Amino acid sequence: MRADWRWPSVFAHRGGGALAPENTLAGIRLAAAIGCAAVEFDVMLSADSVPVLIHDDTVDRTTNGCGRVSTLNAAQLFRLDAGCVRHPAFSGEPLPAFEAAARLCIALGLAANVEIKPAPGHEAVTGQVVAEMVARLWSEDVKAPLLSSFSETALIAARSAVPDLSLGLLVERIPEDAVARCRRLGCISLHADASEWTEAQIRETKAAGLFVLGYTENDPVQAEQWWAAGADALVTDRPDVLKAPKLSAP
Ligand code: G3P
Ligand code: MG
Repeated sequence: MRADWRWPSVFAHRGGGALAPENTLAGIRLAAAIGCAAVEFDVMLSADSVPVLIHDDTVDRTTNGCGRVSTLNAAQLFRLDAGCVRHPAFSGEPLPAFEAAARLCIALGLAANVEIKPAPGHEAVTGQVVAEMVARLWSEDVKAPLLSSFSETALIAARSAVPDLSLGLLVERIPEDAVARCRRLGCISLHADASEWTEAQIRETKAAGLFVLGYTENDPVQAEQWWAAGADALVTDRPDVLKAPKLSAP
């Protein structure tokens, strides 16, 4: 981990990882309660342009509702139960507003990786709205989140709206021109699927001046190899078992 990496090393995936319903305030609370210092979550816009926490383009998989997020307004989304489908013990847990999640992270002292997750066709406006809300909610004396996205259009819009945000490029596979793309976008970090990174790729990416993040790693033994290779952070579904490195890698 590089000395100038400003965030914790372990981010709970989609709020509380596998321990709670994804992208909910309950998940974020649980991550904090078990001592995880940082969370990752996904942000998309409702039909009336309110940023909310959800991963999929539709509410079908994760809530008791159905339909496309981009066709439902915020009032409709906030009435949905985002807990009952996969975690019955969390029944009644609502689909939250990004603003509520941000305020909760700040109150709990949690760092955040805010993933801009635009619905198709809404890339630029999602990047802009999320960036503006981040700038408004995280004051200068509170550590600002790292914003990331698979959408270059969203990242460009976020940068254009708020120039001094910390941005990361998300990819599944690492493209040949990953470093050039990060530089062009003004990204400080490259976030790739954990299975994609090799030690050589970690070394080369860091030598190019970028931070290295892997998702989604759940194996503590494998995590030790990540830290030894110099990765800066991991996103995990198991924040209860995967811990930050005790010592910084050289
Ligand atoms: O940011 C890492 C990870 O969340 C990206 O994948 O599909 O879980 O949002 P996904
Ligand atoms: Mg995500």
